[in-house]
Amino acid sequence: MINECQPTAVLLEEIKQLRRELAEANSIINAIKHGEVDALLISEEFNDQVYVLKGADHIYRVLVEEMQEGCATIAANGIILFCNKNFADIVKLPLNRIIGSSIYNLIKPQNTGDFSSFLSAHGGSFKAEYSLRTGDGFSTPVIMSAISITLGSDTFSCLVVTDLTNQRRSEQFLQMIFNQAKEPIIACDRDGRITQANPAAVAMLEEELVGNYFDTVVPLVRISDGTKFQLNQAIDSNSSYGIEVQHTQCNSPPLTLLINAGRFNADDEDTLIGCVVMLTDITDKRLLAEELARLDRLNVIGEMAAGIGHEVRNPLTTVRGYLQLFTRKSKYADDHEQLAIMIEELDRANLIITEFLSLAKNKSVELKPGNLNDTIQALFPMLQADAFRLGHEIHVDGGNTEVICYDDKEIRQLILNLVRNGLEAMATSGILTIRTYSENDKIILAVQDTGIGISEKIINKLGTPFVTTKEAGTGLGLSICYRIAERHDAKIEVKTSSEGTTFLVKFKVHHVGP
Ligand SMILES: Nc1ncnc2c1ncn2[C@@H]1O[C@H](COP(=O)(O)OP(=O)(O)O)[C@@H](O)[C@H]1O
Ligand SMILES: [Mg+2]
Repeated sequence: MINECQPTAVLLEEIKQLRRELAEANSIINAIKHGEVDALLISEEFNDQVYVLKGADHIYRVLVEEMQEGCATIAANGIILFCNKNFADIVKLPLNRIIGSSIYNLIKPQNTGDFSSFLSAHGGSFKAEYSLRTGDGFSTPVIMSAISITLGSDTFSCLVVTDLTNQRRSEQFLQMIFNQAKEPIIACDRDGRITQANPAAVAMLEEELVGNYFDTVVPLVRISDGTKFQLNQAIDSNSSYGIEVQHTQCNSPPLTLLINAGRFNADDEDTLIGCVVMLTDITDKRLLAEELARLDRLNVIGEMAAGIGHEVRNPLTTVRGYLQLFTRKSKYADDHEQLAIMIEELDRANLIITEFLSLAKNKSVELKPGNLNDTIQALFPMLQADAFRLGHEIHVDGGNTEVICYDDKEIRQLILNLVRNGLEAMATSGILTIRTYSENDKIILAVQDTGIGISEKIINKLGTPFVTTKEAGTGLGLSICYRIAERHDAKIEVKTSSEGTTFLVKFKVHHVGP
C-alpha cells in the first residue's frame, strides 16, 4: 500500500530547497546588477570556469575617479571625452566645461605641435613636462603622460597629469636660497667635481668652478696644522663647527674660511653620491679676536708699566745726577767720552720709560672740542723739518672735517709717531701725505707713505710693544698710537703693500642736540 503522506513531505522539502536556491540566485543577480561582482566561478564536473562580467571595470572607474593624478580620455581630434575631478582641479575649470572641449585649449601654443603629433601617430606613448593653462588665467606646471589605445576602428589617448606646483615651489625656494645666500655654496659629485656654484662662491673664489675638481680649483690650507685641505676631510668630519682653512688669492689678502660639508647618500644606503659645501668667511671674526688679544696684551703691559715705571725712573735719575757730577771732576777727565755715552744711554732708557708709561690704561685724557686740521698745522713745521732731514716731501691735505673732541697733546703724539714711521719706511725722495676727511659719520685722519710696506712678519703683531724691525727702534710708537686711539674711541686701520702704507685713524663724530 502506498503511503499517501510520503511524497507530499518530500515535495514540500524540495520546494523549500528550491526557494532557498532561488533567493541565493536573486541576490547574486542583484550584486551583478550593482557592479559588486566582477567575475563568477562556476564549478563544473571536471573543471572550474571563470566568467568575467560586464561592469567588471567598475573598480577601475573608482580608481580613476579617486586617484590623486588628473586623468582624461582624448579622442584623436583632441576632444576631451572624459576627465576625473583632479584633472578639473588642476586646470581650475568645472567638469562640464572641460568634457567636450579641445585639449588644445589647455596646452600652450609652443607645445601643441608635439602633442598633436602624438595624437595623430595612433599608437605609442608620450611623456613631457608642460605648463597647462588654467581657468583663472594662469598656468600650472605638470608632467603629462599619455598612451594610445585602439578600440575597434577608433583610437583614444589616456592621459595622466601630475601637478608639479609644490615641487616647483620648493625647487624655486631652494634656488632662491642658493642664489641669494651671502655664503658661498658649492655642490660636488661623488668624485669631488663641482656641479653647481652660487654667485657668492663665484665672487669669492674668482675661478672657473663648475666642471673642475674642488680640491684643485679651491686650494685651501688647514689652519690647525698647515696641511693641504681635502674635500673628503669636511665630508667625513663629525665637527658641527666645521674646519677652519686659509684661502690665498693673488692680489688680495688671505681669507680665513670655515668649511662645512653635507653628504648626499643613495637612498637607504651609506653610498656617497655627492655633497654640498658651505664656506663662511670668518676673516673679520678672526681679526677681531686677534685685536682683542692684542688689546689684552696691551692692558697687561700698561698695568705693568704704571706699576714699575716710576720705581725704575727714580734710581735712573739719581745715577744720571752722579754721572753728570763726575763729568765735572778733573780726576775723571780721561773718562769723559764713556760718561757721555752712559748719560746718553740713560736718557734713552728714560725716554722708553716715558713712552711706556703712556701705555697705562688709566692714563687720563683731556678731551676738548677742536679741529684736527689745526693740530696738524701746529705740528707741520716740525714734521717738515723731519722730512727734509731724511730727504722726503710732506704734504697736508686738510679736508672738510667737523669738530670732534680730542686730547691735543695725545693726538700730536699719534700724528708724530705715524709720520715718523712713514718717513722711516721710505728709502729716498719719498712723499708722505697727511689727509683729513669725513666719511659716513666718521672723521678720518690718514697718514700715507710711499715706502716699502709693513713686513709680513709683524703685520699681525702691529701695536704689540717692543715689536720692531728697526735696529734702533723701540717698537713702542704704534702701541702708543693704538692706546691713544682706544682712549679716543677711535679705530686704526692699516692698508699696506710694496707701494706704500696708509694708516687710517677713524674718529666717531658725536652729534649733539636733536
Ligand atoms: N709706515 C710704515 N711702513 C712700514 N713699516 C712700518 C710702518 N709703520 C710701522 N711699521 C713697522 O712697525 C714696526 C713697529 O713700529 P713702531 O711701533 O713705531 O716701532 P719702531 O718705529 O720703534 O720700530 C716698525 O719697526 C716697522 O717695521
Ligand atoms: Mg716708530
